Amino acid sequence: MKAVVVTRSGGPEVLEVRDMPDPQPKAGEVIVRVEAVGINFADTLSTRGTYSGTPPPPFISGREFAGVVESTGDRVMGYTQYGAAAEKIAMKPKFLWPQPKGWSSEQSAAFPVNFLTAYLAYWKAGLTPDAFEPVLRHDLQRRRVLIHAAAGGVGTAAVQIGQLLSIETYGTSSSQEKLDRVKKLGLDHGINYRETDYEQRVQELTNGEGVDAVFEMLGGEHTAKSLRCCRPFGRVIIYGTATGQRHQFDTGAMMAKSLSAHGLWLSILAKDHDLIGRSLQAMQPWIEQGKLHPEIGHILPMEQAGEAHRLMLQRANYGKIVLKIG
Ligand SMILES: NC(=O)c1ccc[n+]([C@@H]2O[C@H](COP(=O)([O-])OP(=O)(O)OC[C@H]3O[C@@H](n4cnc5c(N)ncnc54)[C@H](OP(=O)(O)O)[C@@H]3O)[C@@H](O)[C@H]2O)c1
Repeated sequence: MKAVVVTRSGGPEVLEVRDMPDPQPKAGEVIVRVEAVGINFADTLSTRGTYSGTPPPPFISGREFAGVVESTGDRVMGYTQYGAAAEKIAMKPKFLWPQPKGWSSEQSAAFPVNFLTAYLAYWKAGLTPDAFEPVLRHDLQRRRVLIHAAAGGVGTAAVQIGQLLSIETYGTSSSQEKLDRVKKLGLDHGINYRETDYEQRVQELTNGEGVDAVFEMLGGEHTAKSLRCCRPFGRVIIYGTATGQRHQFDTGAMMAKSLSAHGLWLSILAKDHDLIGRSLQAMQPWIEQGKLHPEIGHILPMEQAGEAHRLMLQRANYGKIVLKIG
């Protein structure tokens, strides 16, 4: 079978389409004929060899996918840590879910990681109806969330879910063009961080009050800045380190405003089938009503996997990048 292989640790240039042996399913596994793969920032980190749990190269790239179960013909989408960017993958059925009715494999491959991460960020922030640590303030103010990289894969999912939860969304991006597109999707306030300091802009836009939660995937000074963007009892949901720098905290601001920081990592949470099942179920009505859809900015053939990673690393992507397999 053809597969996108990480030939050695490095940048996009180390990705090559190679002939690889077909997967041999273990007991209880099924073979999925993969039709499309969603590209995630984590794939660039796995390629670089800096993502925890990545095997030594050579290995097959790709963590989320959609296709057809060989033995049953069921159309499924799935999640793994690597090995998805290939014509076939052997999977335990518990990491497979039915493709939403009427969706293509390209759409389905763009769904699991971005939408589960975004939904769980709202859940962790106490802003979904099923949150186990709900926000306890009972004032009638509309909740506000600041979403970093609002025009990216997780970002565009978070903007849509925010709108459905009646949350006022604030989003950062490096480009006005990307912000214009994500505003059409429902983003309330766009902030171009290349032109303006987002911490200052959030204070201006909220009359000095701040937001209820920040979805923080940058690391470095941005964690401290994100904490300072919060109003009292605000929560920063930490789920990435796109800058490659360790998260810095502003403990003074945390004490002064009773703020908290929460971690979120889908690679670990994906093993909690009850939580994942409930999150998918919560989004199901929105999908059926056509209110939630992956925002796909780029569809490329598997031979251009390197280009897909390059787009993401150079911040040139909008929404989701999907690879067509085969
Ligand atoms: N914890 C989890 O379970 C989990 C799950 C999914 C994703 N994530 C994290 O969430 C973040 C977004 O992931 P994604 O797959 O949806 O990617 P993405 O947002 O589609 O693409 C990355 C975007 O991040 C922005 N960015 C800001 N600083 C950057 C930098 N130093 N280098 C590269 N990009 C930078 C860019 O958007 P602008 O040009 O608009 O700034 C870029 O387009 C990543 O940090 C990823 O690791 C975490």
